[in-house]
Amino acid sequence: MTKTLQLGIAGLGTVGAEVARQIIANHNHFTKQAGMPVMVTAVSARNADTDRGFSMQGIQFCDNPLELASMDNVDVVVELIGGSEGVALDLVQAAIANGKHVITANKALLAHHGYKLAVQAEKAGVMLAAEASVAGGIPVLKTLRESLSGNQITRITGILNGTCNYILSTMQHQARDFDDVLAEAQALGYAEADPGFDIDGVDAGHKLALLGAIGFGTAPSIDAVDMTGVRAITMTDMENASNLGCTIRLLAEAEQNDDGEVLMRVRPVILPLDNQLAKIDGPLNAVTFTGTPIGAVTAIGPGAGAGATASAVLADIIDLALGRISPFFGVPADQLAAAPHRTAPQKPERFFIRLKVYDRPGVLADITTILKDHAISVESLLQSGRSDDGENGDVPVILTTHEAAPQAIAAASAELAQLPAVLAEPVILTIGQD
Ligand code: HSE
Repeated sequence: MTKTLQLGIAGLGTVGAEVARQIIANHNHFTKQAGMPVMVTAVSARNADTDRGFSMQGIQFCDNPLELASMDNVDVVVELIGGSEGVALDLVQAAIANGKHVITANKALLAHHGYKLAVQAEKAGVMLAAEASVAGGIPVLKTLRESLSGNQITRITGILNGTCNYILSTMQHQARDFDDVLAEAQALGYAEADPGFDIDGVDAGHKLALLGAIGFGTAPSIDAVDMTGVRAITMTDMENASNLGCTIRLLAEAEQNDDGEVLMRVRPVILPLDNQLAKIDGPLNAVTFTGTPIGAVTAIGPGAGAGATASAVLADIIDLALGRISPFFGVPADQLAAAPHRTAPQKPERFFIRLKVYDRPGVLADITTILKDHAISVESLLQSGRSDDGENGDVPVILTTHEAAPQAIAAASAELAQLPAVLAEPVILTIGQD
């Protein structure tokens, strides 16, 4: 490496521009922290002329990000383009092949190709680092990989998507509709380029796949993560959760049982208001690691946005300059166990069920018959009000159950959806954490 650390930044969106601004504006700080000057020598973005709040003087602009992978004045490619395929994947592979270090925030890329890329990087003797890929500014990967490395990790639970947390907590506190708050989260720069990744649980799934891989020493597998997002959650659900003394949060959970099976899932959960994760508001993320001998440790902080994500990228840059290079998954990638398969949940849980139904005689009897047939015990049932269209209109029916087998709930849900009086897919949420 030269005596100056030369960065080639691919992607100058909110995060890339913030990384460049910080390095240029705080040159002396970075020289001190990194033990050498850190320079942005090249960048690539869609538009060369946009004012991003830093001077382009002395910085080479590349129309094609792939150029960064072979430039002599680039030691490390900082990939902030995003996406699991295409140019981001090509760039990272080419950079590693050319002996360049790679720092990225790209959780989708690593959840899909992390094993292969880590093997390539370790063979090439270059750094592959991505602290910014999970939980934004909270140092969760480093914590899990280094500070907790002496523990047998059994469970990882958290709020990993700032956009969904912003939406749900704003619905909770301001009684505003889902679409309205999503638009606000996008404007604030929390959401992915395709916000479907946020609200369908995919972004949290990518992050969980990486945490699970590091925590349990298994190759990452996005296919092993069962993902349900928050698209179906309405103010009706939030109000009913509130009536139960609860709120709703999108939780990501990974656990390994005594047989080594790994269960990973992302889903909206109804949490009692005194639960630690129910108190996480706005774009904050929180992650609880449970293991032996530590017990449980929780980290909370900003999970999305330019400053939070740039903070993690900057830490990787300093680690690289100081030679603090760890295998991305904590152990060399070729020592990881095989990727887990999707595992069905076994433990009984309490459930919240919302049905949109015609307001007609006999509908409740049909619903409860299906639940009875699957040995599901109802704890409460609420159908209040009358639709404006009488029997031709719809009303919500809200049920909560006693503990029931997840398989029984899934089977009952499929049958409920087939009832002529049921007008939309049932919304089913777990109540509390298992
Ligand atoms: N879109 C992500 C979130 C931020 O809302 O958490 C980057 O991971």
